[in-house]
Amino acid sequence: MSGAAATSRSAVGELDPTERLLRSCRGEPVDRPPVWLMRQAGRYLPEYRKVREGVTFLEMCRDVERAVEVSLQPIELVGSEAVILFSDIFTPIPSMGVDVDFQPGPTIANPIRSLDQVKALRVADPLEATPFVFEILRVLRAELESRRIPLLGFAGAPFTLAAYLVEGRGSKDFSSLKRMMYAAPETLRALQAVLTEMVVGYLNAQIEAGAQAVQLFDTWAGLLAPAEYREWVLPTHTEIAQRVNRAGAPLILYVNNGAHVFDEMLESGADVLSLDWRVDVAEAARRANGSASLQGNLDPCALQQSREDIFASVRRIAEAAAAARGHILNLGHGCLPDTPVEGVRAFTDAARALGEGGSRGA
Ligand code: CP3
Repeated sequence: MSGAAATSRSAVGELDPTERLLRSCRGEPVDRPPVWLMRQAGRYLPEYRKVREGVTFLEMCRDVERAVEVSLQPIELVGSEAVILFSDIFTPIPSMGVDVDFQPGPTIANPIRSLDQVKALRVADPLEATPFVFEILRVLRAELESRRIPLLGFAGAPFTLAAYLVEGRGSKDFSSLKRMMYAAPETLRALQAVLTEMVVGYLNAQIEAGAQAVQLFDTWAGLLAPAEYREWVLPTHTEIAQRVNRAGAPLILYVNNGAHVFDEMLESGADVLSLDWRVDVAEAARRANGSASLQGNLDPCALQQSREDIFASVRRIAEAAAAARGHILNLGHGCLPDTPVEGVRAFTDAARALGEGGSRGA
């Protein structure tokens, strides 16, 4: 399977960015890897900060015009080849009956610590709960159709959402969450069940509104040992992979700090596994053995390198991923506020250069 993908690469003519991304997700031959970046719309871009001026982050997520504008910025400004809906994994949470504030990370005034609090959570019709999300997607899809740029939707995974909801804020080790896992497992199980229900409806509604692929962010699932991951996280991923309309849009699964749970990630049934920089991509490609495509995995801090060194890093990752059935070039985590714009531009240029033999333009 992987050998076939590698040898037929040269037989494919130049693809448009939508075909290139969707074919890579499904493990079909492509001319070169597609490229986009997690958190590609954000504070590292002066043009983002300009649109963000005078409004809160939450207001911006609900403002269709502003959200569309910043979603599109990375195409022209840094040469990204996919657009991800501008929003946050916490956008659907207020509709469940939980107040969320951003300072700048999500904070929950009344963290969820009891079964009664879990039972009070609602799963609303997504179209009524967050109509602006689907309006943003519809407008984006119309804008992108003629440019043949693919549109991505996303959701936070149940475990990562639960981590913030139980802890109340970001944390190094999420010890309140782990305490619940060990001391009140039925509470965490109920919380994950209601979050899974929300995520499935939310992602399917995004696909219906025009998302051509969807990414599930499980940023904190790597906190668990493999056995705990298998018990607490894998079932949520498997259920989401089964119930999301993957024929309409492939599913990309991102786990940060997840090198030790790669085999469990493979079992999820996701079409693409998105890896952080601690993962050896060549080894991951071997272990995947044609059953999933890979995405990643440059350390966002490596965008501080010279243009020439970024080109070399991208070539190394692409070569390491050559045995995978498909590879989407991306970072191992999101762009940071101090990420240099020229570094992001060099990263996407390096992807394009892979289609021309890999070295030009450095
Ligand atoms: O990738 C994209 O460009 C799409 C937009 C996007 C945002 N957040 C915008 C955002 C996506 C996909 C996310 C996902 C997200 N949000 C995750 C999972 C991925 C990851 O980064 O691990 C998590 C854990 C969150 C929660 C969250 N939201 C945090 C921890 C923070 C604060 C940290 C930070 O970067 O400021 C946010 C706020 C946030 N989400 C911002 C943006 C652009 C910054 C808000 C601002 O402009 O002040």
